[in-house]
Amino acid sequence: MFSPHDLGTVQNTRRDPGTNGYTWIGRVAIVGGCGHVGLPLGLAFAKVGIRVDLIDTSLERVDLVNRGRMPFKEEGADELLPELIDSGQLRATTDSARLRDAESVIVTIGTPVSDFGDPAIGPFDRAMDKVLAQMRPGQLLVLRSTVFPGVTDRLRRKIDEMGFEGMDLAYCPERILQEKSLIELKQLPQIIGGVGPDAAERAAHLFGLLCPKVIFVTPIEAELSKLFCNAYRYINFAISNQFYMIAEQNGADFHRIYKAVREDYPRMKSFAKPGFAAGPCLVKDTYQLGAFNHGAFLLGKAALEMNEGMPYLLVQSIKRRFDLRNMTVGILGMAMKANNDDPRDSLSFKLRKVLLMECKEVLCTDPYVSDPRFTPLAEVIDRANLLIVATPHDCYRSCEFPQPVIDITRSVCSPMPVNGMVTNMKTQPEEDFALQRTKLIFS
Ligand SMILES: NC(=O)c1ccc[n+]([C@@H]2O[C@H](COP(=O)([O-])OP(=O)(O)OC[C@H]3O[C@@H](n4cnc5c(N)ncnc54)[C@H](O)[C@@H]3O)[C@@H](O)[C@H]2O)c1
Repeated sequence: MFSPHDLGTVQNTRRDPGTNGYTWIGRVAIVGGCGHVGLPLGLAFAKVGIRVDLIDTSLERVDLVNRGRMPFKEEGADELLPELIDSGQLRATTDSARLRDAESVIVTIGTPVSDFGDPAIGPFDRAMDKVLAQMRPGQLLVLRSTVFPGVTDRLRRKIDEMGFEGMDLAYCPERILQEKSLIELKQLPQIIGGVGPDAAERAAHLFGLLCPKVIFVTPIEAELSKLFCNAYRYINFAISNQFYMIAEQNGADFHRIYKAVREDYPRMKSFAKPGFAAGPCLVKDTYQLGAFNHGAFLLGKAALEMNEGMPYLLVQSIKRRFDLRNMTVGILGMAMKANNDDPRDSLSFKLRKVLLMECKEVLCTDPYVSDPRFTPLAEVIDRANLLIVATPHDCYRSCEFPQPVIDITRSVCSPMPVNGMVTNMKTQPEEDFALQRTKLIFS
């Protein structure tokens, strides 16, 4: 049995709804239900027997989902979605009146920051006003979007002012890896920040249907937990990027160091690889944490400068070796991370802008992101004098590239043996590069 009266971890012993003495959990409505967080969550609840309504303002996504088609890549979802739509277990709609039928309402809408890095609280408030307008006393309201700390308590005050009787409110952050949601929702413990023990217990029962363990904290601790997770990862990527640039500027092979320091040395296992660290969450949530701490977040600011600066640093480095003015450069991968189709806040686009200032021509390609400005991979390989792997999709590993390839992640290309030694571009004399017609790696 979950007991939220003491904060801490509780193992989940119940896996089936309506059994082991727990109350049956009624219909679940997910606001933002056709998004990257909402849709996999809806699939996961529907799969364990809960009836789910996905409420979304995007008519296009709602139509797609109701036709059993995923709007984005998500492992295991292409097969599951049509099954659950056909059985009536899951349905998508733009009609927010459906919220009234639900026992639990989960909010998963986007929570962007402004151009200056402050949380854009207005759109969230307006969306919540519309949600509350459809809700009734006695329901459970769970915030799942990543929010500015204090938003849950602020919403509680609003709910009280509106006079809702017995409505329970909790904040339960989403910590899945995009595209692995259906796997991770079954594995990750759920952090529950209930406004009061009743709300915490109800939220724990709901999420306990999916996960092995719940962890009770206060609402602000739950809100901060999510921001700490993302800022921590973002800072880790910045450390690797900084180390990469230090090695690169001093004639050392970062990847050889990376391999050396991790080998049989557990304390460095979490050392991230360098690369373009961006996407819709890490940057935004680092900004949110900084804003919450009144701008006093030195590590976060340094990480933003480092990670967002990578396209510039990389192009500066390339310019020392290639006369870009006369070159056509191809960018491989425009999604925000490998094997993904999400281009939101991808640094590949920034790389393109920086290269446009320096090169004769820039070609972009991505097998998963559709954009009329992109060029097919075969044509990019055919026309480019130089390739840069911005997003190391696995499919590039099997490609033969006749031109030099720059891959800071070293996931796509292997180092090239020269004179029986493994070497890399910068250890060779300048003129060799122009003659190189085989796979090259730049580190
Ligand atoms: N994407 C991730 O991997 C991830 C992981 C953890 C947390 N989060 C957080 O989850 C939240 C959602 O992120 P996402 O990536 O799913 O965004 P998303 O843009 O993919 O999905 C949001 C959905 O909400 C819909 N929507 C917007 N306003 C609405 C409204 N007023 N009513 C109903 N629907 C509305 C949109 O049409 C969209 O389908 C954000 O706060 C994000 O930081 C995202």
